[in-house]
Amino acid sequence: MAEPLPIGVLISGGGTNLQALIDRSADGSMPARIALVISNKADAYGLTRAREAGIPTLVIDHRQFNGREPFERAMVKALDHAGVRLVCLAGFMRVLSPYFIQNFNGRLLNIHPSLLPAFPGLHVQRQAIEAGVRFSGATVHYVSEEVDAGPIVIQAVVPILPEDDENTLATRILKQEHRIYPLAVTLHAQDRLRIEGRRVRILDAPSQPDAALLNPPGMEFSTRITPHDIHPDARAPETDRGKPS
Ligand code: GRF
Repeated sequence: MAEPLPIGVLISGGGTNLQALIDRSADGSMPARIALVISNKADAYGLTRAREAGIPTLVIDHRQFNGREPFERAMVKALDHAGVRLVCLAGFMRVLSPYFIQNFNGRLLNIHPSLLPAFPGLHVQRQAIEAGVRFSGATVHYVSEEVDAGPIVIQAVVPILPEDDENTLATRILKQEHRIYPLAVTLHAQDRLRIEGRRVRILDAPSQPDAALLNPPGMEFSTRITPHDIHPDARAPETDRGKPS
């Protein structure tokens, strides 16, 4: 069996995506091994997760450097030293410069809690709710110089419920992030991803041409939906009453 791919994970916070990568690496379902976790914040809880899993960690505080590039050079040096072949951004809250991105060109993944290219940036769950879309989700993509715009590897779709606020939606999206990030790393580690312009071709990917999701679900039970069908207490419209069905 091939050696697991050495990966580096960059974090700034809680690290639940890091945990998903740790777990899938540990149970053998993701053919990658986390060689180094770097945080730009000393108090990031993700560091504790890594240490508990026996993974080497490093704090590289961006504030101690004079500018973006010296900070990134320190990270590149550490990642190279650890033999890292793929870098995963997992809640890393610094925008990276072209220097870092080019250095890991085609070997740098990010996860974002929306269906890109919709809602790049921050507070995206709130943006999705306010925009009234019926679905949001999560995206794993290769990082390009434009923020949240690189070639998309995999997405998970999450319905937005009428009662959702940004926290409930973020929680359900995060659950899907934990499924798709290890999957994207697996596909990369298996050398099944080909970046072709803005698109990523996946070798040997199954397809379901007729798959589709509707939200709200379960509304296709009748071609003539009346308010009564949806809310049993509602009265059918005047025009429909008494007509043979
Ligand atoms: C996730 O929502 C991820 O999509 C975004 O930052 C958050 C990180 O969460 N980039 P965690 O630190 O992995 O729990």
